[in-house]
Amino acid sequence: MAELPTHVAHALRRLPAPACAYLYDTQALRRRAETFRAALPANTLFLYAVKANGHPRVVDTLATVCDGLEVASGGELHLAVNAGARRIAFGGPAKTDTELAAAVAAGAQLNVESAHELRRLAGLGLHADICIRVNRAGSGLTGSHTMTGTPTPFGVDETQLPALLADIPAGLRVTGFHLHAVSNNLDGTAHAAFLTDAITWSLGTAHKHGVHLRTVNAGGGFGVDYLSTAAIDLTPLSKVTVPDGIELLLEPGRYLTADAGWYTAEVLDLKTTHGRTFAVLRGGTHHFRLPAAWGYSHPFTVLPVDDWDRPYPRPTVHDTDIDAVGELCTPRDVLTRGQHVPQLRAGDRLVFARAGAYGWDISHHEFLRHDPPDFVIL
Ligand SMILES: Cc1ncc(COP(=O)(O)O)c(C=O)c1O
Repeated sequence: MAELPTHVAHALRRLPAPACAYLYDTQALRRRAETFRAALPANTLFLYAVKANGHPRVVDTLATVCDGLEVASGGELHLAVNAGARRIAFGGPAKTDTELAAAVAAGAQLNVESAHELRRLAGLGLHADICIRVNRAGSGLTGSHTMTGTPTPFGVDETQLPALLADIPAGLRVTGFHLHAVSNNLDGTAHAAFLTDAITWSLGTAHKHGVHLRTVNAGGGFGVDYLSTAAIDLTPLSKVTVPDGIELLLEPGRYLTADAGWYTAEVLDLKTTHGRTFAVLRGGTHHFRLPAAWGYSHPFTVLPVDDWDRPYPRPTVHDTDIDAVGELCTPRDVLTRGQHVPQLRAGDRLVFARAGAYGWDISHHEFLRHDPPDFVIL
C-alpha cells in the first residue's frame, strides 16, 4: 500500500481515544477530478456518481470540479441540488412518482429504466428529454457487478428496445442512451474500446429508430485496485472519438473518491485463539463494509500510539499475521485477514486507505448501535 500522507497521519493522530473515524481530503478529491478531466477525449463531460460517497462536503467539492452529479434517489437529488450541481442525471430502476416529479422539476436528466417507467412519467404529465438505459447484449468489460449483458433489474433489455422506441408517449423525447455496464474495471484499453463501442452502437440504434441522438452516457466503472497501488491507466481514453454534435457522458464514482478517503479504528484488544491472532477494533464492517461485501482483505497501515498510561500490561504482538476484526457480534465482521505486522499493540490505530468510495455509504450503520465514527474533512 501507499505510504500514509503526512497530513493525514497528523490528523488521525489528533483524534481522541478510542479513535474511530473517516477522513476525507477535499484537495485529493479535486486533484483526482482534474486528473480524470485531463484524460478525457473532446466532447466528453463527467458527472460524479454520488452513491460512491454522499458526504455533503464530498458532494459539494466534486460539484464544483466535475461537470455535474449523477444521482439515484430523492435523497441524492436533494444533495445535488443543494450542492448547486451544474448538471444532474437521475438513474436507478426504482424511482417513485415523487422522485420522478422532483427530478424533472430540478431540471435533472432522467435515465429511464423501463417501458413502465416511461408510462408513469407520461401519466404524471411530465415533459422531458430523456435517455433510455439499455441492458445490451454484452459490454466487453470485466470488473465486478456486471450490470449489462446479463440478467439484472437495470435498464431495458436490448431486444425490447425497438418496441419501446416505437411507442414514446407524448411530451417525452428520447435524446440518448445510458449504458453503464460494470464496476471497478482496471483495464483502460478495454474501457476505451467500450466507450467507442457505446458510441457506435448508440449512433446505429438512433439512426435505425429515428432518435435524434445527443447523449451517449457510458456510466462509471473506472476501477482502483484495493490490493496494490495500481490504478486504471486512463491514457487510452483520449483516443476515443466522440463525433461533434454528440456528448459522451461519464459517471465515475469510485475513481474520484476512493483514494481521497481513509478509515481508522483503534485496536481495543489483541488476542490469539485456536492459532489465529485478532486485532479487535473500535469500528468494523458496520462502518466499512466493502471488504466483507466483496470478500477481500483490505490492507491497513499501523499508526503507532506510544502512550500507555494504564496500570496493567499492554497487549502486544511481534512479527505476527493478524486478522483485523470489528466490534460486531459476528465472525463475519472482518476487514483484513492474515496481514503481517512487525509489531502491534492495543491502543495503536489501524488505517485503511482507499476507503473514500462505497465505504460508509454502503455499510449497515445501525447493527449493534455502536457510536458512529467521527468524520474529519481536510
Ligand atoms: C448508473 C451508474 N452510474 C455510475 C455508477 C458509478 O460507478 P463507479 O463508482 O464504479 O464509477 C454506478 C455504480 O453502480 C451506476 O450504477
